[in-house]
Amino acid sequence: MAEPLRLGIAGLGTVGAALVRILAAKHDFLAERCGRPVEVVAVSARDRDRDRGLDTSRFAWFDDPVALARDRGIDIFVELIGGEDGPALASVRAAIAAGRHVVTANKALLARHGVELARKAEEKGLILNFEAAVAGGIPVIKTLREALTANQITRVYGILNGTCNYILTRMEQEGLAYEACLAEAQRLGYAEADPTFDVEGHDTAHKLAILTAIAFGTRVAADDVYVEGISNITPADIHAAADLGYRIKLLGVAQKTDTGIEQRVHPTMVPVDAPIAQIHGVTNAVAIDGDIVGQLVLSGPGAGGQATASAVAGDIADIAKSRPGHQQAPAFGVPARHLEPYRQARMRAHEGGYFIRMVVHDRTGVFASIATRMAGEDISLESIVQHRSVASPAPADGTQTVILLTHTTTELAVRNALKRIAADGHLVSAPQMIRIEK
Ligand code: HSE
Repeated sequence: MAEPLRLGIAGLGTVGAALVRILAAKHDFLAERCGRPVEVVAVSARDRDRDRGLDTSRFAWFDDPVALARDRGIDIFVELIGGEDGPALASVRAAIAAGRHVVTANKALLARHGVELARKAEEKGLILNFEAAVAGGIPVIKTLREALTANQITRVYGILNGTCNYILTRMEQEGLAYEACLAEAQRLGYAEADPTFDVEGHDTAHKLAILTAIAFGTRVAADDVYVEGISNITPADIHAAADLGYRIKLLGVAQKTDTGIEQRVHPTMVPVDAPIAQIHGVTNAVAIDGDIVGQLVLSGPGAGGQATASAVAGDIADIAKSRPGHQQAPAFGVPARHLEPYRQARMRAHEGGYFIRMVVHDRTGVFASIATRMAGEDISLESIVQHRSVASPAPADGTQTVILLTHTTTELAVRNALKRIAADGHLVSAPQMIRIEK
């Protein structure tokens, strides 16, 4: 059998520890599949004495991940530290400079520095793999950059954050408040160290920016993603959506339009019978629209040690199977130096249907006035109802809830109409506006 492939792993948190266990348990199985053994030879983490339930004494220990990345005793540097800069960036740069292949699960690092790192790796004939960075255990990177090479992609969208999907699912199924569901997700270990990253949509935005680059062959443009999180979604929205035949999901959507590429992350109403609406709990899903294949929907575990380590181990196995002189697909599907500039479509030009929930003063003419303001912006209404459901019964306090569904219109028209309605003095509180994705 060929020489072993030697790994240095930086970061022994949930994913790193799961990876070490999997590589030990599957040693012979992987050696047979890859044609050579895959051996962990060195590790690095912040605290050597922490009990991880792992025997690390058989590995060389490095306090400094950069020193590990440069060590001549390794062939692949596995970065599981996290964070867009700091030790993660320094060690991945050092690994590439020293001629090591790199496997990382770090979406923030790739969203910010992915093109630079891919370019440097490609110049040196090295492999940079990052399947685990997007949607955990779902092989969406490989699907986009390899299996769908012959397709022109028109849209890619999905549920890319397990924490948010868990919260929305629990709110819908159990009728719980947002805060209680977030606390549960944290307790179960799904959320990032700072859950704001999850619930305000930034984690989804990082993942979406990576998918966009691969799907459309453009440079990663994480700063150009329009982002809204789920922290202002209320049980009243969830109930109103259900009454109208929709579910609310936090989606990341990248779509080609006439004016450029839209990248947007926001709570979205999806028809209750759509495949993406069937994705519950911490599960992720990605839908890809290709001109030849039609629509693919991939779903599976998007967070957690086992799922993420499964993707990292697959990336390592791909390098183990590669032969010198036979480059695998470039990191972003096309060589990084050939990625096109990203042309951003303006959010105000976004076209789609909208759900609008307004709490208004209950007086004569309010409905008519709202309808007039909508018509003034050329917005055609699919329905306008005074909402009475279990969640929002007709209150006795002189207010009413009005729910509108629009036909396809533009973001600008909706924002203008809502400004005028607010100026008319009918609103008790800020309106809720949720985009519909068909
Ligand atoms: N916090 C992330 C999630 C973990 O909830 O999906 C995987 O990136």
